[in-house]
Amino acid sequence: MQNWLFDIKRLQQEQGYTIPPFHVQLLKWIGNKQRFAHEIIANFPANYSRYIEPFLGSGAVLGTLSPERAVASDLMRPLVDIWLALKNDPKSLKKWYASRWQRFSSGERQEIYEQIKASYNHEPNPGDLLFLSRACYGGVVRFRQDDGFMSTPCGVHQPISPDSFDRRVDLWHERVKGTEFHCSDFEPIMGHAEEGDVIYCDPPYVHSQTILYGAQSFDLERLLKTIAKCKDRGVFVLLSIDGTKKSGNYLCNLPIPDGLFAREIMVNCGRSMLKRFQMAGEELSSELVSDRLLLTW
Ligand SMILES: C[S@@+](CC[C@H](N)C(=O)[O-])C[C@H]1O[C@@H](n2cnc3c(N)ncnc32)[C@H](O)[C@@H]1O
Repeated sequence: MQNWLFDIKRLQQEQGYTIPPFHVQLLKWIGNKQRFAHEIIANFPANYSRYIEPFLGSGAVLGTLSPERAVASDLMRPLVDIWLALKNDPKSLKKWYASRWQRFSSGERQEIYEQIKASYNHEPNPGDLLFLSRACYGGVVRFRQDDGFMSTPCGVHQPISPDSFDRRVDLWHERVKGTEFHCSDFEPIMGHAEEGDVIYCDPPYVHSQTILYGAQSFDLERLLKTIAKCKDRGVFVLLSIDGTKKSGNYLCNLPIPDGLFAREIMVNCGRSMLKRFQMAGEELSSELVSDRLLLTW
């Protein structure tokens, strides 16, 4: 007999309760789902055991859900080190941010930003990545395709103060207490999922994000095969995928096997930050985007 941990949530859902929005971002990250993570969660099954998020990024769904038992992972080492510090050593996380913010705010901003970026590119590390994510232009952490270097210029905004960041760390630290973090490719993490677990996949957008996340190339077919195996074992899988964009409907070309997904829901994501960054001031009115959310049950 399966020991369902989320019966209370099921009862709450039956009584019209849903997980409320949680709009406090810890990191800025391209593809961040903070504004509508609660809408994604509203589609989770009423009963499930563990929550698994193998493309963690800035962890919007994880933070909003605040699960009792979860596994979260990403391929990017310095990013995962930020998450490990959040869970195990939040004081260091706060110090990493405050020391860079103080340098940045008391000197020549652009120059200090470039120094921090150079330090990250010389030796990728969580402290520099954390500050760059909060201070870079449009919150779009980008990596050059040819050498993998972080390339985003300094943002025009003032990054949040250390006090404000500390409060976010305290909030998020509570929310990830039940989560194990790993630096890993998605396949072994999903391979450990068991019947009754829920996996939410938010992979790099195939068409628009190939140069992001450390210039990794991404193989959607391998992910789809892994999802099929999870489904066969009785795991519930949700997959977010690039939604409608004005540049044409390339969704039809994705190699999604017939019958893998039982349902599809469109989730509104507002305007695309990546497009805003690329178009640099051009007309943006047609850049409203939606995500497709595909569900295996
Ligand atoms: C679209 S982002 C996830 C955004 C996240 N939902 C959020 O709210 O910020 C995709 C993430 O997948 C990670 N990634 C790319 N290739 C991967 C792989 N093969 N295995 C695991 N993670 C990978 C990237 O480092 C990136 O953080």
